[in-house]
Amino acid sequence: MNDISGRTAGPRQPAIRVVLMPKDTNALGTIFGGIILSYIDQAGAVEAHHHVPLPGRLVTVAMREVVFHSPVFVGDLVSFFTETLRVGRTSVTIQVTVEAERSTGTGRVKVTEAEVVYVHVDRNNQPVPISAKEAVGA
Ligand SMILES: CC(C)(COP(=O)(O)OP(=O)(O)OC[C@H]1O[C@@H](n2cnc3c(N)ncnc32)[C@H](O)[C@@H]1OP(=O)(O)O)[C@@H](O)C(=O)NCCC(=O)NCCS
Repeated sequence: MNDISGRTAGPRQPAIRVVLMPKDTNALGTIFGGIILSYIDQAGAVEAHHHVPLPGRLVTVAMREVVFHSPVFVGDLVSFFTETLRVGRTSVTIQVTVEAERSTGTGRVKVTEAEVVYVHVDRNNQPVPISAKEAVGA
């Protein structure tokens, strides 16, 4: 069974998986929130590009409802799951859910979630409609 972007339905897959390192920490020694936000932005863009195939251009216009539920620790395996919430005229809204698998083997926890909005733009950075025909080469 396919979803609206033509992908095959199946077990939930993350857009990105990464092990976070000591260079990613804040002054408290846990992972800096800005690092997580950066990966959220990238993961959401991976999902959004299912609706705007390359070489279509997307820019992030809003990150909203960002909630940090639990800290992320050095060595955690962090997965960024994505889901399309809305496809508008020129924008796509993506839900990103972040889960950390603890390096201590204590299991997997939801650490962060966010809603990110991307806008399809042309080469002059002006919004253009999302449609298969117009997206390519926009
Ligand atoms: C994205 C950008 C081109 C939109 O310009 P704009 O003049 O607001 O365009 P519009 O008013 O036509 O809105 C375009 C779409 O964005 C949506 N949008 C605009 N501002 C929004 C906001 N704050 N939150 C959510 N969606 C927003 C609109 O609802 C519209 O969606 P739709 O067509 O699906 O209904 C402009 O804001 C921009 O260049 N921002 C900087 C983007 C960037 O550089 N991002 C990288 C981060 S540094």
